Amino acid sequence: MSTKTQHWQTLWTHVNLATMTDGAKTYATIENGAIAIANGKIAWLGTTAELPDFDTARVKVIDGKGAWLTPGFIDCHSHIVYGGNRANEFEMRLEGKGYEEIAKAGGGIISTVKATRAASEDELFNRALKRLTVLHQEGVTSIEIKSGYGLDTDTEIKMLNVATKLGQTLPVTVQRTFLGAHALPVEYQGRADEYIDLVCKEMIPHMAKSKLADAVDVFCEGIGFNLAQTEKVFAAAKAHNLPIKVHAEQLSNLGGTKLAAKYQALSADHIEFLDEAGIAAMKMADMTAVLLPGAFYFLRETQLPPIELLRKHGVSMAIATDVNPGSSPINSLQLMLNMACTFFRLTPVEVLAGVTCHGAKALGLSSSKGQLAVGYDADIACWDINQPAELCYQFGVNPLTHLMKAGEIVI
Ligand code: NIG
Ligand code: FE
Repeated sequence: MSTKTQHWQTLWTHVNLATMTDGAKTYATIENGAIAIANGKIAWLGTTAELPDFDTARVKVIDGKGAWLTPGFIDCHSHIVYGGNRANEFEMRLEGKGYEEIAKAGGGIISTVKATRAASEDELFNRALKRLTVLHQEGVTSIEIKSGYGLDTDTEIKMLNVATKLGQTLPVTVQRTFLGAHALPVEYQGRADEYIDLVCKEMIPHMAKSKLADAVDVFCEGIGFNLAQTEKVFAAAKAHNLPIKVHAEQLSNLGGTKLAAKYQALSADHIEFLDEAGIAAMKMADMTAVLLPGAFYFLRETQLPPIELLRKHGVSMAIATDVNPGSSPINSLQLMLNMACTFFRLTPVEVLAGVTCHGAKALGLSSSKGQLAVGYDADIACWDINQPAELCYQFGVNPLTHLMKAGEIVI
């Protein structure tokens, strides 16, 4: 018996593997393959023909019967913790009002802030748990969850506590991002710089010290914060060793992405209006572009993200749901796979990379998640499909048959 196989606990046989170890170039497929798990990690993978001897009495063998395995999906941008909903604004938009117009009139993010402040932690948790459960059932094993509907220290903490608890309740890795600079709360109307001071001097130090946040994000936009304010938040995040992300170039080209690149941000998200100079800056800083087809669809945007330029410069592209009550109340990562193809004309391999290896990169988790490779976390989705493109091609019939989280079968 090979000593290499002695510690194996689980072995999938008769499976096809889309290992996603090749970025968005290929699926890095292993057909008629097998994959072994030990201590929550991938211990071995290869073709059935290469499978070494192992102790059949000790290893639990699962016959995959020709199914496909991919890395568990990573939803690297979400706002799933929030109070209330904004169906009324949806109705207003159908009656002719614009998203920015509603936001400027005190609706938008600010109306969700009211509902989130009023909600108890349990209420927020129960609602978010439902959303996360659905995402999990679609194959999500890691998710990023942002705060940003509190805009005061206590409610921001409440949101991040809920995010923490979600990760302790479901077998899903939760990365928490502090988004205190999401919008200007009403009590700071006309005093944006003072609010930014609160974010930088009170909130960020607290989130860092209490280890409630894994990253810091800013909404850099006309209806969000300007470049100078954004930079203050980035500097505070850096000073507390928190990685940076940015909502930028969603509705206009303010230069938030370029600024984020200066601070070695993990990602710039949305970026419909990003120009080539911004893309070059992203590449230099090895940032990931997080594309959000749900928001593009729901706001009926017409400006497509600069996909060709992102390809030309070799910038990694991730895909995420952006689940939130205003711009993307669409709680399905599987639907995003389809929309990224139909709206953004990404190829299925780019899209699958977007929710696996590139999703991991957008969260700074590239060395442990998003690929089927030896030493990586055994977060693995098993699909009843005949080829990987089916994951993008159809929507509405969930092809997930099993899900492994850290080597345990959880679905
Ligand atoms: O990612 N762009 C800013 N934040 C969210 C929208 C939040 C909202 O409208 O509630 C987004 O689209
Ligand atoms: Fe967002």
